[in-house]
This record gives sequence, structure tokens and C-alpha cells, in this order.
Amino acid sequence: MCGIMGYVGEENAADIIIDGLEKLEYRGYDSAGMAVTDCGKLAVKKVVGSPSGLRKFSDGLIGKIGIGHTRWATHGAPTVENAHPHCSMSGLFTVVHNGIIENYAELKAELEADGYIFKSDTDTEVIAHLLEKEYNRDLKGTVSAALTKLKGSYALGILCADYPDIIVCAKLSSPLFAGTSSGGAYLASDASAIASRCDRLYRLGDGEIGILAKDSFKVYDIDGCRIRKSEVKIKSYDGTLDKGGYEHFMLKEIHEQPVAVRRTLSEIIDEKRRIKFKNFKMTVQDAKKIQKISFVACGSAYHVGMVGAYACERFLHINSEACVASEYRYKNPVINENTLVVVISQSGETADTLAALRLAKRSGAKVVSIVNVENSTIAQESDSVIFTRAGKEVAVATTKAYSAQLAVVYALILYLAVKVGTMNRKDCDSYVGELCVLPEKIEQILSDESKFEKLADTVVDSDYICFIGRGFDYCAVAEASLKLKEVSYIPCESYPAGELKHGTISLIDEKSLIIAMCCSDELRTKTVSNINEATARGARSITISDTEDADIQVPKIADIFSVLIEVIPSQLIAYYTAKKRNCEIDKPRNLAKSVTVE
Ligand code: AGP
Repeated sequence: MCGIMGYVGEENAADIIIDGLEKLEYRGYDSAGMAVTDCGKLAVKKVVGSPSGLRKFSDGLIGKIGIGHTRWATHGAPTVENAHPHCSMSGLFTVVHNGIIENYAELKAELEADGYIFKSDTDTEVIAHLLEKEYNRDLKGTVSAALTKLKGSYALGILCADYPDIIVCAKLSSPLFAGTSSGGAYLASDASAIASRCDRLYRLGDGEIGILAKDSFKVYDIDGCRIRKSEVKIKSYDGTLDKGGYEHFMLKEIHEQPVAVRRTLSEIIDEKRRIKFKNFKMTVQDAKKIQKISFVACGSAYHVGMVGAYACERFLHINSEACVASEYRYKNPVINENTLVVVISQSGETADTLAALRLAKRSGAKVVSIVNVENSTIAQESDSVIFTRAGKEVAVATTKAYSAQLAVVYALILYLAVKVGTMNRKDCDSYVGELCVLPEKIEQILSDESKFEKLADTVVDSDYICFIGRGFDYCAVAEASLKLKEVSYIPCESYPAGELKHGTISLIDEKSLIIAMCCSDELRTKTVSNINEATARGARSITISDTEDADIQVPKIADIFSVLIEVIPSQLIAYYTAKKRNCEIDKPRNLAKSVTVE
């Protein structure tokens, strides 16, 4: 989840690098640094905190080539010493890195035995010293030799004092893009950080080494053979990177959800309200062969998978599960050619989800991914991918991408239900009709935020908060709890409402708050009983439902779609609670937008 920037060209490198790092800040922001060379003279500047802190150095940094980095700490505390770039002992090499070198301890011991002195606790510094150790004046050969000794993942930007006019880059598992324009060549861990500056964009592949010069970008394989790269296209769904008048990106993106859902659905539902996926096709024969459907993802995307699994069992009558990717990849899942695996990821770079995708493909499953970033690794490696059109999501706590993912899952369920024959066309058309009005229902909820600001007082005044629900409502409270936790830092949890009495109810007293979602007609009375069990023991409660007696009434919608409606209030409660607590809402502590390490 770190951010890498590089530039070589006719302009001063410092400001270009800092501009790019600020666009990448969402990837990780506990520290930042950059290295700029002017006629071979290297200057390295580092700060703890945001890359904007580097601006105070930019006037003094002359040089038309440089690399930069925003860090999300994996090895070593967020300090200036551990911030990238890292230099080799003699200063010959300077390196920025995103990823994890799994054998760094072993390499560090060898290098220290060879007399190399380390200044940081990072795995990255090993790469700088290893390059120096392997150096034989052939730069490309040196980089290849060093890379073959690394185990793990890396996206690298490398400067070498003997080659003052080029940047070397390399990639394995962690994303890396390069671009060229008349003004120079650019490097970034996310294409959107350089797309506006480039005429041509390229995505590095695993095992590739790139050489950027002010008027060229060349790529080689690990053996030094030249590779011809095709350009990648960036669709301009990213919108403008400003808050659009909102105080935080999170609030802006909460309000962008109707558009995100509408735009996503517009690509998969045609004018006759038929569901058509651009590059996911399943024949009736194939659909009828499916014996198991696994939704695999992390965090909020996993919560979307929970909805998918419940809906598949309900509407397709096929054995379905939602799995956390970090568990799925190690639990030896039962997978065969009759398994459909649905991988869900906003960033398309989540390491655990990518590993799960690779496992599913290796095991012969049919795999379809739901991804928000077009040139992401998961999108590239999927047989079939359905894109959400939420646009660039800046706030670390996902909202609009989550909703767009849900919309795709709803459409996928209906598409498959007709294919397997458990839903007739008339019923499907009716559901599709409801799906298409979801954006308007979301807009209704967003039209009055005042009550959510008031409810935040109740939340901050509680010692213990538990979100409860049953069925689809339970999927919604799982996401509601994560949202509150990640932006307000208030410990809370979500529970199947029927589960409270099996232990957790012992926590309930007059300082407790139960937030219950009860949109399910079939299960509402049971959830209300569970609420009463808690309030009888002193807890306060907030109910979110489509009935008039609810504390927060949401528009009526079919059960299957209720999650997309009832989660909106919980996003606003989380936002206003975090605001009341003066939290760093768009960049919560310890979190990164894209978790590209295990
Ligand atoms: C959601 O608010 C979190 N930021 C986090 O749980 C996120 O959903 C998870 O890390 C998965 O990310 P992805 O969708 O990019 O794979």
C-alpha cells in the first residue's frame, strides 16, 4: 500500500514528484520521501506524515530526475529513518519500494556479515545494499542479479549514481506503471497519479525491468531480452480529485452513491432491462453445472460477498459461501470445474484477494471478478471481469464502491437465476425494475442528514455498541460496524441478532447501544425480540427499518436489495460520529486504501 513516483525529463523533478505523491497519499501516508539528482549530485529528503510535508524542500531541490515514495509501514515504525528512499552504503544506489521482501532477514544477515551497515529497520534497505553488492557496472545485469535473490513482492524505483540520467524500475506482484510524454518519462504505483501528464501509459508485468530516460521507456525481461509493451488505456471515470464542496471525500463519496450505482447499472442493464455483462458470459448449460458459488474478498468487499452468498442460496438454490480471502487462500477450499468463484475488490490490488483469485484459477474454477479499477492486477488476471463505475474512490473507508459492487452482485444473481431456471423472465424483469430505482431510494435517504448528526451523540455517549440483524440485515450490519470502527476508532461489533443471547448479551448494560437493522419482513419480529432482550437490560437502541416505527425509516424495497438501502444511514452515522471525535476521516490511522501486502 505504499505509493511510488518517479520522473525524468526536461522539468524540475521535485514538484512533479510531490504532486504525484499527493495523488497517491490514499495508498499509505505515515511517512514520505524523495530523492532528486542534479548532474549526478543526489539529494534525499524525508518527512513523517503527509507527502505535502516535502514541499518545504522543493525550492532547494534542483534536478530533472528523481523518485519519491509515500509509506504505509510494514517493517519498522513510521519514522524519517524508515521512510523511503533508502540508499546503499556508498550512496551508489537509491531505492523506493512497495511490497514485502519475505526473505529480507536472511539477506540482511548476509549483507551485514559482508560489512554493510544498515540505517533503518525496513526490508527495503536490503535491496539498496544488495544492488551495491551485485554491482558490476552493467546496471540492467546488476538489477536482474539482485532481483533473483528477492522473495516476496516488489514494485521498485531505482537511481544509480553512475547512470545519472535514467530511472530503473521493476515489478513483481505489486502494481507499477510507466508513462511517457514530450516532457519526459514518469513512474507510479497507480496509473491515475501520472495519467494526466502522459501521452502513453504502460503497465509493467511481473518479472519485467524498465529503463526510463527523458525521451524513452524500454522494458526487458529478467534475462535482459527487450520486451515490446502495449499501451494501457485509462477510462476517465476518475472525476476530479477535489472534495466538490464537501468537508471530506467520504461525505462526497457517500453522496456520489446514486450516480455510482446508476452508472454501474447502465453498463450492465440494457434499454430492454436485460442484464448483459460485457465480458462475462454464461450459457444455460454452464450455469446448470454450477454446484457451488464462492464469494471471496476482504473487508467491505467481503460484506458484499455475504449478500451474494445469501442471495444465491435464496434465489439459485445453489450451495454458496462468502469467504474472507486471507482465510480462503490457506484453507484448502474444495474447488473444481463446477465451482463459480466471484472475486470482489475495489482497488483490484488487494494481495489476499489476488492470491485467492490465482488459487481459484489454478484449481479449475470459473472465476469472475468485480473490480473498480480498470488496469488493476485482479482485473488483468481475471478470465471475466465486471467493472463497477464508482469512479476514483479517495476516502479509505469505502462507500460508493461498496454500493456499486452490491449493484453488480444483485444483477449477477438475477442473471444467474434466469440461466439456472430458478427465476422466470417476468419475475426477473420485476426485480430489475426495482434495481433500477435503487439510486432514487438512496437519494431519498441522503436528502436529510440532520438526524444522523444527532444520532452521533448517542453513539459517542455509549460504552458498548453492537449492530444486529438477521439474514440480509445481518450483511448490512457487518458493513455498518466496520464503517463506524474504521473512521471513528470506536470499538463496536456486529452480530446475527439471534446470536446475542449465546454470550454477548452479558456485555449489555445501561451504557450499551444496540443498532438494529430490520428491513426483512420475514425476520423483523424476531429481530425486534432480540432488541427487547437488550433494552430490557438497560441498553438504548436505534432501529433502521422500512416501517414507520423505526428510528430511521428507509424506503421500502425488496428484501434482496435492502442492504444497499439500510447501509446508507450507517455510513452517515459513522461519518458524523468520526467528525464529532475529530478523527482523520478520509485517512484513518493505520489504514491504507489498497492493502497490497499479506
Ligand atoms: C473498507 O472501508 C476498507 N477500506 C477495507 O475493508 C476494504 O474494503 C478492503 O481492504 C478490501 O479492499 P478492496 O476492495 O480494494 O480489495
